[in-house]
Amino acid sequence: MFQINENYQKLPGSYLFSTIAKKVNAYQQANPDKNIIRLGIGDVTQPLAPAIIDALHKSVDEMGHAETFRGYAPDLGYEFLRKAIVDNDYKQRGCQVEIDEVFISDGAKSDSGNIQEIFAESNRIAVCDPVYPVYVDSNVMAGRTGTYDKGTETWSNVIYMPCTAENNFVPEFPKETPDMIYLCLPNNPTGTTLTKDQLQQWVDYANRVGAVIIYDAAYEAYISEDDVAHSIYECEGARTCAIELRSFSKNAGFTGVRLGFTVVPKDLKCGDVSLNAMWARRHGTKFNGAPYIVQRAGEAVYSDEGKAQLKEQVAYYMRNAKTIKEGLKDAGYTVFGGVNAPYIWLKTPDQMTSWEFFDYLLENANVVGTPGSGFGPSGEGYFRLTAFGNYENTLKALERIKAL
Ligand SMILES: Cc1ncc(COP(=O)(O)O)c(C=O)c1O
Repeated sequence: MFQINENYQKLPGSYLFSTIAKKVNAYQQANPDKNIIRLGIGDVTQPLAPAIIDALHKSVDEMGHAETFRGYAPDLGYEFLRKAIVDNDYKQRGCQVEIDEVFISDGAKSDSGNIQEIFAESNRIAVCDPVYPVYVDSNVMAGRTGTYDKGTETWSNVIYMPCTAENNFVPEFPKETPDMIYLCLPNNPTGTTLTKDQLQQWVDYANRVGAVIIYDAAYEAYISEDDVAHSIYECEGARTCAIELRSFSKNAGFTGVRLGFTVVPKDLKCGDVSLNAMWARRHGTKFNGAPYIVQRAGEAVYSDEGKAQLKEQVAYYMRNAKTIKEGLKDAGYTVFGGVNAPYIWLKTPDQMTSWEFFDYLLENANVVGTPGSGFGPSGEGYFRLTAFGNYENTLKALERIKAL
């Protein structure tokens, strides 16, 4: 009789977005005349930029001719895209990253879930709290997290690093030494980030204790402040302790197109074993390459037109972020984030729990957001609004919240 991976049974249900959807649907059915504005899920709303559409059309046409048709892509990605990434994302920022250190994938969710596979089951992970849930859940599936305590909503073998207003959303070095440290900067869900100096301290810490940092930079394009690093490789010593994950979803609207990449430096080693070689082996065995047309679309992100158009797209969302942040402040809310990330993290008023505020906002302003407690226990008492809506709806939502 076959046995299942029992670790899956340990996972508490991921009810966050399905509970939100159920509540919103029930409210809409009971109030069909109400116009609900959704500022909950972190999906983009603006269409793909013209430079990307052109690249897609062109490469689709290539696929229709025997001379230019492409079959399987190289497992690790086409050289044209890997080179564009190295030149634009790294060389131009003074970071040393080589082409064979860049692994193209179908997005940062897969990579952030898969990367733990190349590490021992006995490794102890450290995560920020609140956190993007994939980091913890993928380690639960691998049997690395111990037992779940429903009361505290924590795992016995996970080191949690609370990030709240009290520590200015800067995680402190944990008392127990972790082996793998997940950092998402700029952060989802809090919309906050670290300065380059603060990040450098984490790199120094990881090198000192022999930990690896899994650095998720999915929101890098939203950084507006000069003292914030766009890549962890801007920090000295990061090549011996850090893996960086990137996504085309939020900087270029690829949530439905699917493209991302991971950088594993050749200097990152466990004894004599190169993690770069391990990830190449894993990628080559389990992944058959991102589609040619999508990689051409990714290349267009780095063209002059692409860059100009995407700068505008990011600015569009960041205007929403500013509108939400300033509007909420005017209305007396305590707000965080929204300067280097497209998320606004607010303190719920009047001691409401995250879910109480969710209901209050839905029923009284017909606005949907995401309860902070859904991202971890330290998210309780907070609430996330996204800047990924359209501008008109964002303005309308703020008018309604201000009128409460
Ligand atoms: C922190 C973080 N990492 C990764 C992802 C997923 O990125 P992708 O669409 O490339 O899979 C998201 C998406 O919301 C995210 O918030």
